[in-house]
Amino acid sequence: MFLPKRPRRLRQNASIRAMVGETHFSVAQLIQPVFICAGKSVEKSHPALPGCKTLSPDRAVAYAKEAYEAGLRCLLLFGVSDKKDARGSEALNPDSSLIHAIKDIRSKVPDLILASDIALDPYTDHGHDGLYESGKILNDATVEVLCEMSTLQAKAGVQIIAPSDMMDGRIGAVRRALDSNGFEDSLILAYTAKYASAFYGPFRDTLQSHVQGDKKSYQMNPQNRREALKELLLDVEEGADIVMVKPATLYLDIIREFADQCQVPVAAYHVSGECALLEAGAQAKLIDRERAIQESFDAIFRSGAQLIASYFALEWAKNKSK
Ligand code: PBG
Repeated sequence: MFLPKRPRRLRQNASIRAMVGETHFSVAQLIQPVFICAGKSVEKSHPALPGCKTLSPDRAVAYAKEAYEAGLRCLLLFGVSDKKDARGSEALNPDSSLIHAIKDIRSKVPDLILASDIALDPYTDHGHDGLYESGKILNDATVEVLCEMSTLQAKAGVQIIAPSDMMDGRIGAVRRALDSNGFEDSLILAYTAKYASAFYGPFRDTLQSHVQGDKKSYQMNPQNRREALKELLLDVEEGADIVMVKPATLYLDIIREFADQCQVPVAAYHVSGECALLEAGAQAKLIDRERAIQESFDAIFRSGAQLIASYFALEWAKNKSK
């Protein structure tokens, strides 16, 4: 058969396929989330997701060294605490385990970039990301607390402040707070399109966070795309250095929109439930674990992400450097 165009010519062997592969990324584009708790020599993993680790500050330093040596350039830190109250007061404790871990990692692994999640949910007894009274989230009062939390973390050594709370106006307010405290070089990674998703389960287990009701009055409706673009315009205008879409694999259309429509790097959060489902699928022998992880990363990068936060980041980096 005479066929001048045969797409399969470009797929006929591994060398040609490697030459015409369209999506490439480096380990420096992967970010590993890590949870910090109190104590010494504590190291726990989520039972359904070994890459989701809770570490005491001493173990966090060792982990940070390992991550840097494997080629990762950034950890995304979260506090885990049993000190919970209505106002999430522990978020502003300058003596918390999280703050200690930040200082220790900063001094011992100076080239590793630290990002820190800014929201109150690890520390509130109602489990919400903001201040919550009579069944309502108090937007503006929450933003004030988040500004203090951001400044405290920047002081301790965090270079990337990552507000995940979805309050209105928080990016501009945090930018102003950072600048007025001398942290004009601190970056803001905004969780710009964060959806009210069913895929945050293992994360909330890790925080021991039990939400009263749901987060739908601040996190976005999974049905909405145009609204994500509105959030994007606002966050970029308010000074976000990096914008994030979360979760990742069900929201590739949103990642693509962001990549096409803005001039700042786009990150995607491959969240705990997405990662745990891959683990469970592999356990059940339904999928090949490594290939499924690689395909997930390829798809997220292909859709336009520049950075991925994933519980598989360190594992991928280590396999790569073998
Ligand atoms: C909340 C926050 C959540 C995640 C990151 N920050 C959960 C939530 O909104 O309830 C989820 C991350 C994951 O599932 O891995 N501040």
